[in-house]
Amino acid sequence: MIGVANGRRVGITGLGVHVPERVLTNEELSTLVDTSDEWIMSRTGIRERRIAAEDEALTDIARPAAIAALERASLEPKDIDLLVCATVTPDMMFPTSSAILADELGAPDAAAYDLLAGCTGFVYAIAQAYSMVAAGLSQRALVVGGDVLSKILDWTDRSTLVLFGDGAGAVVLEHVDDGGFLGFELGADGGGGRHLWLPGSGSRRFDDQESFVKMNGREVFKFATRVMIYSAEKLLDECGRTVEDVDVYVPHQANVRIIDYATKKLGFPEEKVVVNVDRYGNTSSGSIPLALADAEKDGMLKPGALVLMTGMGAGLTWGSALIEWTDEVRRQ
Ligand SMILES: CC(C)(COP(=O)(O)OP(=O)(O)OC[C@H]1O[C@@H](n2cnc3c(N)ncnc32)[C@H](O)[C@@H]1OP(=O)(O)O)[C@@H](O)C(=O)NCCC(=O)NCCS
Repeated sequence: MIGVANGRRVGITGLGVHVPERVLTNEELSTLVDTSDEWIMSRTGIRERRIAAEDEALTDIARPAAIAALERASLEPKDIDLLVCATVTPDMMFPTSSAILADELGAPDAAAYDLLAGCTGFVYAIAQAYSMVAAGLSQRALVVGGDVLSKILDWTDRSTLVLFGDGAGAVVLEHVDDGGFLGFELGADGGGGRHLWLPGSGSRRFDDQESFVKMNGREVFKFATRVMIYSAEKLLDECGRTVEDVDVYVPHQANVRIIDYATKKLGFPEEKVVVNVDRYGNTSSGSIPLALADAEKDGMLKPGALVLMTGMGAGLTWGSALIEWTDEVRRQ
């Protein structure tokens, strides 16, 4: 799916993030499984990640991010009429984490649902929220992207354990006077789904009902490097923009080698690229909002800046969003 904005300006007016307190370093991981800081750094660029506490679930890390995003937008929770939560690690299948969050935050008028699109979930969710706001069905949407993948990892499997971390982010989408989203490109390839999957997590029975993330790293690497380029180029072209026009490139933070490959192939200078995978690992749906927050902290998200986000992950799925950053909110 690909599309450009329909003329109504919808932008991001608030951004908040949250990660669990506990830091898990590569050194500590190497006491749990047969790995080393040298192996992890050279293959992934990850130095440490955050891990949720035993009693911490998705909504516990998403709630502070949502509150921060609403504060940044100078909104009360009750002002939100749509809450989409992108995650593959909801507190439970139902009630949805979005419904739990809407209740806890105090957004009784919000439609609330969870969205499953692997690590691309946040990009899918902002495309959905954009569409509802642009169509006039929603006035103000809160999009949460977050995961606690530590809860679904096999802690004896070094090939997946070292890659992931926990974290969440949230953004408010509403009408703006300047800038806003220019377009989205989203795709899926279920045929490759078994290269990154969670068998036994749903209604299909498997002989081995243990439900942990399983991954064919090499196949996912090949897929990731392909779609990161394809999706970005296709969207820029559709929006009549070029790589040179982009001020900030926010790739999904899966692996520094994938980011480096995409950056070079697309032709972005390093200073335009946001990288924080070294500190957080791959936080799935939390990855892009966490990177946006770092870009904001570093002064990269100036009003008028053209920001390209591209995600990819389980499904297999991918997606890009192009937005002209704004701080001009339009409220009646
Ligand atoms: C996972 C990944 C880092 C592995 O790197 P790689 O260069 O492909 O490594 P390989 O899978 O070929 O494994 C090489 C060796 O390292 C070993 N190995 C795997 N994980 C290891 C670890 N954490 N520590 C030490 N050795 C490890 C393997 O067992 C293998 O050993 P062998 O040759 O004796 O069989 C890489 O494939 C990758 O980044 N894939 C994309 C994953 C991803 O981003 N997923 C999420 C997408 S949203």
